[in-house]
Amino acid sequence: MSDAGDTADKTPRLRSAEWFGRADKNGFMYRSWMKNQGIPDHEFQGKPIIGICNTWSELTPCNAHFRKLAEHVKQGVLEAGGYPVEFPVFSNGESNLRPTAMFTRNLASMDVEEAIRGNPIDGVVLLVGCDKTTPALLMGAASCDIPALVVTGGPMLNGKHQGKDIGSGTVVWQLSEQVKAGKLSMHDFMAAEAGMSRSAGTCNTMGTASTMACMAESLGVSLPHNAAIPAVDSRRYVLAHLSGNRIVEMVREDLKLSKILTREAFENAICTNAAIGGSTNAVIHLKAIAGRIGVDLTLDDWTRMGRGMPTIVDLQPSGRYLMEEFYYAGGLPAVLKRLGDADRLPHPDALTVNGRTLWQNVCEAPLYNDDVIRPLDNPLRDDGGICILRGNLAPNGAVLKPSAATAALMTHRGRAVVFENFDDYKARINDPDLEVSPDDILVMKHCGPRGYHGMAEVGNMGLPPKILEQGITDMVRISDARMSGTAYGTVVLHVAPEAAAGGPLAAVENGDWISLDCDSGKLELEVDDAEIARRLAAADPTAASSQIASSGGYRQLYIEHVLQADEGCDFDFLRGCRGAEVPRHSH
Ligand code: FES
Ligand code: MG
Repeated sequence: MSDAGDTADKTPRLRSAEWFGRADKNGFMYRSWMKNQGIPDHEFQGKPIIGICNTWSELTPCNAHFRKLAEHVKQGVLEAGGYPVEFPVFSNGESNLRPTAMFTRNLASMDVEEAIRGNPIDGVVLLVGCDKTTPALLMGAASCDIPALVVTGGPMLNGKHQGKDIGSGTVVWQLSEQVKAGKLSMHDFMAAEAGMSRSAGTCNTMGTASTMACMAESLGVSLPHNAAIPAVDSRRYVLAHLSGNRIVEMVREDLKLSKILTREAFENAICTNAAIGGSTNAVIHLKAIAGRIGVDLTLDDWTRMGRGMPTIVDLQPSGRYLMEEFYYAGGLPAVLKRLGDADRLPHPDALTVNGRTLWQNVCEAPLYNDDVIRPLDNPLRDDGGICILRGNLAPNGAVLKPSAATAALMTHRGRAVVFENFDDYKARINDPDLEVSPDDILVMKHCGPRGYHGMAEVGNMGLPPKILEQGITDMVRISDARMSGTAYGTVVLHVAPEAAAGGPLAAVENGDWISLDCDSGKLELEVDDAEIARRLAAADPTAASSQIASSGGYRQLYIEHVLQADEGCDFDFLRGCRGAEVPRHSH
């Protein structure tokens, strides 16, 4: 056996050599069992071993085409002189998983982290798509800090219904409100179902999946154009192939994730999120990823970097178009070039996985359609960035997405109509006797990380039918929940601390006045401190939530260790980078 670290090129000593580069009993064992797959001996002679971390699953329809994607990555790895080994990890499918895919994001990240660290892998390609798979894999890989590169599965083709384009998720919220308002038949509603999801890929709106794909690209952890190429476009497979080429070089260059995922990279991502009108979920996921690599990102960074940045990508749910048009208009490189040309890209020199800076990657990017990627002086919204709110109702913060909100409601004072939890909301929202007027504020409690077990995407509460029948389509809504990246409305989310953690949201009563002021970032419950304290002391924070303190299993681990929304909802014990060293062998 040759020592894999002594190869002629400049490859640093490979961590896989600790397994395969040994002329002893352990080396025999590590290699021999692998050889049962028909791998010749020379593959173990110092080639970079590239893990392909695959979230393929038929229960994650957005990632169901990933075996083919992995094949193209493998071709690229082999061509560049590496050896690919594909392995599965827990797949967080947004559409099927109950109570929400967010509940198992951290579980998946633990799976990824331990699979990478425990195995003979020198670099890893992360195959991601559906919302939570991107943060889960980046979190796990960041805690190991080996060379890693993201390949996203790509968005679905535009949905089609009655001759028009329809967008994933967004159309569901729109049409279901029309059914409730008596303006659409159930038959027509059901007919949209098949037309919405008509190809492989993730949601084709600027929902959380597309947002996180754009976040990966703006963080520099993917090759350019990774975010927007449609899933079924052959160029997606070319990108997978090139990513396979590149990860082998990254191992040779020892280009670890910590060299890419710097504070500067996260600041670029925050600005990009504003420009694309990205999902509020990015606030939670970026915080969690940053926490794993040791970057102290805070909600105030979103205000500092993102506020005042115009939203220039005119995609649903904030705007009109879908991911296909976004790609054909130039994709994320065109957006980054537009920002950079106007000096609005804070760190153009941030390093990316291809060894070039973000600006070097995009400085010649063409832009083909000013309707889809609009000029900065004719944006979709002037005030694009996520609005961070604070006040006695959200001492540790809350978020609102201006590009998806009604401008006139972003400064609003109204009476609270309170739902104690999501079940209470469902039981009463359609009641014709519900006392509610369009100026009221719908408040829902106990939907935070602990209260709902995973912080479900229920914050964009559908409006009461009696309001919809008046032709009103938006009201201020406040909760400790999240909302889907495909959703819209003047919706205050992620209130922290959550009601189930004793946050002041638990103290709100019907008829209380609440004031929302997005200009000054204030969210105030107009009840004096002593009364709030009295109500909180009298309340049992767990009573109205679905909390099961001693349920056992993963659920118990989750309840006991999940951090609040402003902390990224990671587990307290998972924060930080633990590196890739494993001092012991298994025999
Ligand atoms: Fe998977 Fe939207 S449900 S990307
Ligand atoms: Mg989603």
